[in-house]
Amino acid sequence: MEKMTDKTILEERQGEATLLANSSESERKIYIESYGCQMNFSDSEIVASILDKSGFGTTRNHEEADVILLNTCSIREKAEQTVRNRLNAFRKQKSNNSNVVVGILGCMAERMKHTLLEEEKLVDLVVGPDAYRDLPSLIEEVDSGQKAVNVLLSRDETYADINPIRLGSNGVSAFISIMRGCDNMCSFCVVPFTRGRERSRNPMSIVAEAKELFENGYREVTLLGQNVDSYKWNINRKGEVENENEPTVNFAQLMEMVAQVSPELRIRFSTSHPKDMTDEVLHTMARHDNICKYIHLPVQSGNSEILKKMNRGYTREWYLDRIKAIKTILPECAISTDIICGFCSENEDQHADTLSLMKEVNYDFAYHFFYSERPKTLAERKYEDDVPEEVKKRRLKEVTELQRACSLEHHKKYIGTIQSILIEGPSRKSVEQQCGRNTQNAMVVFDKTDYPAGQYIDVLIEDCTAATLFGKVVSK
Ligand code: SAH
Ligand code: SF4
Ligand code: F3S
Repeated sequence: MEKMTDKTILEERQGEATLLANSSESERKIYIESYGCQMNFSDSEIVASILDKSGFGTTRNHEEADVILLNTCSIREKAEQTVRNRLNAFRKQKSNNSNVVVGILGCMAERMKHTLLEEEKLVDLVVGPDAYRDLPSLIEEVDSGQKAVNVLLSRDETYADINPIRLGSNGVSAFISIMRGCDNMCSFCVVPFTRGRERSRNPMSIVAEAKELFENGYREVTLLGQNVDSYKWNINRKGEVENENEPTVNFAQLMEMVAQVSPELRIRFSTSHPKDMTDEVLHTMARHDNICKYIHLPVQSGNSEILKKMNRGYTREWYLDRIKAIKTILPECAISTDIICGFCSENEDQHADTLSLMKEVNYDFAYHFFYSERPKTLAERKYEDDVPEEVKKRRLKEVTELQRACSLEHHKKYIGTIQSILIEGPSRKSVEQQCGRNTQNAMVVFDKTDYPAGQYIDVLIEDCTAATLFGKVVSK
């Protein structure tokens, strides 16, 4: 399999269910599966917390669940199809026991609203990303024999006061959501419609969450937002201070505050936006060893005309200038990206520009997709989805092959070096091995030690594939 970093693993996972502590035989049980980005997985932890307070336990087995929830993604058509196929698995259970509540949460709920109830008869509950506090009363509504929908988007909901219940966690790494929504309106993207306006969460609640995680043994947090560089507290959309008596906080400052929780706590973040990523962020990263030297900076296309049509807010030259800043200020930093192949009207020369940009940047890793038209987006309304599917697929293959070669070259450079690894747990392939990542987010596998997950160790890298580094432990 291709090298998969966290995000891909999450996208590929066919949902995750979890077992909460303290669930007793008598209480009603929920079963949650999550799809899509890290934000959705983080939201499921908020949902579990909200329902836990209302007396719901959880189960990993949907057959013993009273409430089945799918937290869904709409980013590409395929993501929605996956959820629709998955619903089939619950059809028989619902026909055997009509008291079982089936709910759709997340982006597909927000995008489709009531239509979901019409198209998928077994669905009882449709709840958008800003309405999770309403879940207990919506479930009551379903219990009383009605279908229930809440897809209201909010201008200020951040769930800042809710202490997420960590689902499917390795006890070492956790997500912290720092903002919600997105105001960018990239022309291909459904997120602004499914997640609403951008809003930032109170920095004190973010630092408190990081501290609590650290005290509970966690050693790595990932700060999450669709565009973390535009995080702002006490600053309005025009850039003015809202309350003169309170401090203002931008993303660089927030990251610094979290980094100061402990030098033993690693900080990661996702996603940066090329138009907003400042040198201040890069200098902050340089000052703190515990802020990981890894930046995911989605480019989408290497051609300025296509970037303009995508409404990304930068040109190829601007993007390359940001890459230059990273390489100058943070020479050890790994860089990854997202690429869309076959966007409306993309021709062979424009595609070649993407390949040449990839070579110039020399990414450590890339996620690549072919363009999938999404309802209501600017691209759907304004441009024709005119690149034939086989051309999209061929271009995607070229991008994939180029990236695999680049990833392998990057990995080969680690051979013979000693890398500091945070142990995450047993490797996925063998219990005789453990795994963890270096600061650049490369996955390292080594023979099992007595050191537990959450421990930092030094590993001498001896071998690699495009996906993984292999090595032996040289010291603690
Ligand atoms: N907020 C992040 C991206 C979130 S979506 C950012 O701006 O970088 C994750 C990725 O999905 C995007 O970077 C893009 O590459 C891809 N994507 C989004 N909409 C898509 C579409 N309609 N078709 C194909 N890929 C898409
Ligand atoms: Fe979508 Fe663009 Fe917002 Fe990312 S920045 S979520 S791609 S609209
Ligand atoms: Fe998907 Fe929504 Fe995330 S559309 S990628 S789950 S914000």
